[in-house]
Amino acid sequence: MSIDLSTSYMGLKLKNPIIVGACGLSEDVENIVKLEKHGAAAVVLKSLFEEQILMDIDSQRMNNIFDSYSDVENYIGFYTKQNKINNYLKLIKDAKENTSIPIIASINCDSDGEWIDFAKKIENAGADGLELNIFILPSDTEKTGQEIEQTYFDIIKSVKSVSSIPIAIKMSYYFSGFANFAKKLSETGIDAMVFFNRFFSPDINIRTQKVESAYIYSTPEENAMVLRWTGILANKLNCDIAATTGIHDGKSIIKNLMAGANAVQIVSALYLNGIGDITIMLQEVEKHLNDNNFKSISDIIGIANKETIANPQAYQRAQFMKYFSDSGK
Ligand SMILES: Cc1cc2nc3c(=O)[nH]c(=O)nc-3n(C[C@H](O)[C@H](O)[C@H](O)COP(=O)(O)O)c2cc1C
Repeated sequence: MSIDLSTSYMGLKLKNPIIVGACGLSEDVENIVKLEKHGAAAVVLKSLFEEQILMDIDSQRMNNIFDSYSDVENYIGFYTKQNKINNYLKLIKDAKENTSIPIIASINCDSDGEWIDFAKKIENAGADGLELNIFILPSDTEKTGQEIEQTYFDIIKSVKSVSSIPIAIKMSYYFSGFANFAKKLSETGIDAMVFFNRFFSPDINIRTQKVESAYIYSTPEENAMVLRWTGILANKLNCDIAATTGIHDGKSIIKNLMAGANAVQIVSALYLNGIGDITIMLQEVEKHLNDNNFKSISDIIGIANKETIANPQAYQRAQFMKYFSDSGK
């Protein structure tokens, strides 16, 4: 039996549910071509970081490479910025010319500032969609939750005012009223949410007392939180969901689709096992569908969602109470 692996995500038709998430693997066109060859249905380009652009300018200032005449600094700053942006736009164009899969650009931002204009340029360069990695850690003791949430609404409004390609928001999970906020966000006209952004984790080197980043790659256990929120919200939101974080094999792809995701994004598994893993995962998904008499991916999307399962409390706190009382712990 031939299985239809296609799905639709943020208004884009995908030949299968595997999207390669934003990372260094999509930094050059040769690699993007390889990802397509191994079966990737779409690729999210490595993010253009607001900070990255600013840091480039600042480090040049600090290194005193140039004299301190402000007009020279302004020129260098402008040139550096243009250059980085132009490289990114070229990558979009080259990727579109050399592949036939959707190419989703990505911007890492925390305000609706200067970068908004890039959204139009990204659209003009041919990107099929734009993923906004809104990266706000609620670490500012003076900032309220409401202010942080408002920043999301402001960014979406500004981007939508300059660009008309599909938009996905890569979500953080640091919200006190996550379900309510996600629902409101999904009503702003965005096309998808990505559950979840994976922040770099700090670790302390006890010999040097320096704070370093640790745990660059995810582990399969980390997918549990994604599965929970996808299962709870998929039927409630007015947009699609891409599940990401901790998806390392075909079984995990199936679980996330069953919870209600329209597609998945994969990164760590490809760094750890090589990009050939995409083909292996697709074979695993196809075999499971075949063995269980499903004809298509759409047959399984959402079948284990909170709205569709017999015991919806499995996604909720009640299940913990049951577990602890049953096991006598
Ligand atoms: C080396 C590396 C680079 C990444 N770069 C980006 C990036 O530029 N933008 C972004 O939104 N996420 C970035 N991510 C996060 C991934 O897109 C993804 O959300 C995260 O790794 C969780 O998926 P995984 O469990 O499959 O790794 C990066 C992850 C890794 C490991």
